[in-house]
Amino acid sequence: MRLGSVISGELARPAESRVLHSRNPAKLGEVVADLELADAATFRRACRAARDGQPAWAALPAPLRGRVVQQVGRLVEANKQALAELVTREIGKPLRESLGEVQEVIDTCTFFLGEGRRLYGQTVPSEMPDKQLFTFRRPLGVAAVITAANFPVAVPSWYLVPALLCGNTVVWKPSEQAGAAARALAELLWHGGVPADALHLVQADGQTAFEGLELALEDGLVDKLGFTGSTAVGRRLGELCGRHLQSPCLELGGKNPLVVAPDADLDLAVEGALFSGFGTAGQRCTSLGTAIVHERVYDDFLERFDRAVSSAPLGDPFQDVLYGPLLGEPYLERFEGFLGMIAGHHKRYGSTGVGRITAANPRQGFVGDAEAGLYAHPTVVAGVTAGDELYRTETFGPIVGVAAYGSPDEAVALANGHGYGLSAAIYTRDPRTAFQFAEHCAAGMVSVNNSTSGAEAHLPFGGNGLSGNGSRQSGIWVLEQFTSWQALNWDYSGKLQKAQMDVAEPPSDPDFRLDR
Ligand code: UN1
Repeated sequence: MRLGSVISGELARPAESRVLHSRNPAKLGEVVADLELADAATFRRACRAARDGQPAWAALPAPLRGRVVQQVGRLVEANKQALAELVTREIGKPLRESLGEVQEVIDTCTFFLGEGRRLYGQTVPSEMPDKQLFTFRRPLGVAAVITAANFPVAVPSWYLVPALLCGNTVVWKPSEQAGAAARALAELLWHGGVPADALHLVQADGQTAFEGLELALEDGLVDKLGFTGSTAVGRRLGELCGRHLQSPCLELGGKNPLVVAPDADLDLAVEGALFSGFGTAGQRCTSLGTAIVHERVYDDFLERFDRAVSSAPLGDPFQDVLYGPLLGEPYLERFEGFLGMIAGHHKRYGSTGVGRITAANPRQGFVGDAEAGLYAHPTVVAGVTAGDELYRTETFGPIVGVAAYGSPDEAVALANGHGYGLSAAIYTRDPRTAFQFAEHCAAGMVSVNNSTSGAEAHLPFGGNGLSGNGSRQSGIWVLEQFTSWQALNWDYSGKLQKAQMDVAEPPSDPDFRLDR
């Protein structure tokens, strides 16, 4: 399968074509697609096409745009298995998780199909007679959307679906690690009724997309950026958008804590930590970074966690495994670098080895052929402290730190101290402990007695601090990202009524006092 960029329904051939082989990370011998990567000028051209296509798309009444979203949702549902299998083949996520990911796309469509019949504005009273005030949500224009490989269809849908529903057109640049899944989702959108002029797909690498975005912003062709990816790239993109007086929607990294209070149900906490830490091979932005465990239950938790991690089945993502391979070669390389942060005062648990799983460095009970893919041992690092590099670095991959705490204040300090603020969890039976933690925790999402990952598709999702710029996706909250409020003043008095100046003064007697 050879896949290129698609602008207004046509294959866009860059002046100089570069082909990238998207490989199955579980079987490196299998090429899933050959991606023809675009240049920066092609990205700009897609933005110009999106600009040209926007008025016609916005002219379609919102309930009909909602109808299109409904058709897309139904089409994704009818293709759920095929899309999930492609996601698993391209990025190695276990099939069960891929099916969940596709379900998240369907849920997003289900939520937004109705928004087409709401998209409410308000009627607002005026301070003057014979004058009415209204608010309208207006589309912004063109949204550029740049997404990551770990959620190749669900997270993009969080941008694409509401952006389109609100009357914007979109240029989507998916991760080059997940170009085939992206193309499949785009096909489902087009076949569901999204016009070719409303959604354009650019297959490019990150640096090229950055340069293309810069060109497009300079030409006034982009009104909003949605970006999911690393904090470092988000910072660069935020600077670029800021120069053009735009506030992007940034969903960045995390170092998500999971606090285990002394009264926690430890089996439940271990189950939560196992999925939080190692689901998607620890490559969710909501993946567990550090388990922060009360000193009274620390040893007990660690022992149970080690047992659970050591015995978890890993391997072929089409089998029933906790996790499969890493997303791609650069991810495994980076992960091996993170392992260098394990220091002398730490103790390692969780597997029969560390780093890449090979015949010479085997994992007990591995399911399938480890040598064929990009598999890594799960690693639990005990004895993490606030001074450690491991404590403050987002380590995208199957590694979880464990730190001890004494007082609730210490737990909060450890949960926030690294500066990320995406997701957090606490295991406790005491509502007071849970609410007090949530109140002081800096994360955009807090789970009580549940995993740090697994946000539902209709709750606000986004981070604070190093995890984002406070923007929120999903549910009604994302509407703020893809519309601007227009206030409309309508005076039918037949004269110029000046606000603040021509306003009647209601009579009052300010010196009045009650008799005692
Ligand atoms: C991400 O990793 O970018 O809560 C998003 C979760 C998923 C979304 C993760 N629903 O883990």
